[in-house]
Amino acid sequence: MHNTHEITHNIFWVGGNERRLSRFENMFPLNNGIAYNAFVIIDEKTALLDTVDVSISDLFLTNVQYALNGKTLDYLIINHMEPDHCGNIVTMLRHYPNVKLVGNAKTFQFFEQFYPIDAKANYMIIKDQDELSLGKHTLKFFTAPMVHWPEVMFTYETSEKILFSADAFGTFGGLNGGIFADECDFNLDYLSESRRYYSNIVGKFGGPVQSILSKFNELEINMICPLHGPLYRGAELAFIIQKYEQWSTYQPEVQSVLLIYGSMYNNTEMVVDVLANKLARFGIKNMKIMDISQYDLSYVIAEIWKYSNIVIATPTYNADVFYKNHALLHEMAALNVQNRKISLIFNSSWGGKSQETVTGYLSKLKNISLIGEPLLIKSTLKEDNEPALEALATSIFNSFQ
Ligand SMILES: Cc1cc2nc3c(=O)[nH]c(=O)nc-3n(C[C@H](O)[C@H](O)[C@H](O)COP(=O)(O)O)c2cc1C
Ligand SMILES: [Fe+2]
Ligand SMILES: [Fe+2]
Repeated sequence: MHNTHEITHNIFWVGGNERRLSRFENMFPLNNGIAYNAFVIIDEKTALLDTVDVSISDLFLTNVQYALNGKTLDYLIINHMEPDHCGNIVTMLRHYPNVKLVGNAKTFQFFEQFYPIDAKANYMIIKDQDELSLGKHTLKFFTAPMVHWPEVMFTYETSEKILFSADAFGTFGGLNGGIFADECDFNLDYLSESRRYYSNIVGKFGGPVQSILSKFNELEINMICPLHGPLYRGAELAFIIQKYEQWSTYQPEVQSVLLIYGSMYNNTEMVVDVLANKLARFGIKNMKIMDISQYDLSYVIAEIWKYSNIVIATPTYNADVFYKNHALLHEMAALNVQNRKISLIFNSSWGGKSQETVTGYLSKLKNISLIGEPLLIKSTLKEDNEPALEALATSIFNSFQ
């Protein structure tokens, strides 16, 4: 049985959901799986835009065959050559031996690296802004290097004004019947997962995202079809583009404080709780405290994308930063976190190089302002720390003025 949806006349969603997957890329925890989107366009010539992960191959093949309704497949557009989308290219070649694989030079370099079969006779190598007519529908290809791999392309269908945007605008989470963001409570069900997807998977590449977005400034877009999660049209389309503008320029969405701490025996936690209490008394709202040990770091990274101010509190562990804080700092540098106000709290009992390590990581980040003096605690918070804690709270409060 197929499970397809005609998203507009003669354009079919032929993707599927994989809800048993507990970690995307074997790393990022999933609560409700993930959707792999793929699309078929029926015209004088037929085209399939991307395939899906091998975990849903059977459903995918049934869906494609249903949408084609007995026709052959003329073109397979490869917008992204990552296994979660290219996992069924070889299967498609087996079923449709004459299909033209449409990609750029890098696409085929990666194709050959992943699948050592000779399919050169099927290649149709295109360049940025090339067009392909299917009849009434015309596809225009835009290379989108490093959003988030080097071979990525966006495909724009000119008659319906649909942008097939590869992983950009994707989100974690399976689809809940409705395929469009306006068919669900997007803010409640997907926005935080969309932010977690963006920040962890695309976040490093703000510059490339900006340059591809700018290419579409003049083009009218009625619909965005990413490779994961709901599709966008109408108000939701404008909303997600505005979010991408913010996320890719590293602009915080919330003017408030995110307090992240590691703590083995709750003493560092206490410092953070007292600081947050002081900040709340100053009138700062919507703060969030995260015990780093309780979270997969992808959730912490997503919150870092959201907040203007970040407090990082770390105990000393084996003479260095507590290991999850260490991993977070590494990830912040790797993902190119920028434009944040950061305050630091260190807790040690006998000593180590935590401060040196943190300073080293922060020096790799662009546009970071250090707010207040680093607060140094010896094992537990005491009355004599009060002036320094009050001073830190005041500095953070003043950073909003
Ligand atoms: C396994 C372990 C290793 C530690 N290594 C250090 C260290 O190298 N230097 C140091 O000053 N404190 C070290 N400590 C002590 C912690 O820094 C201390 O427990 C912490 O400051 C108290 O804060 P907490 O209750 O938030 O964990 C270590 C503690 C543990 C449990
Ligand atoms: Fe990808
Ligand atoms: Fe993907």
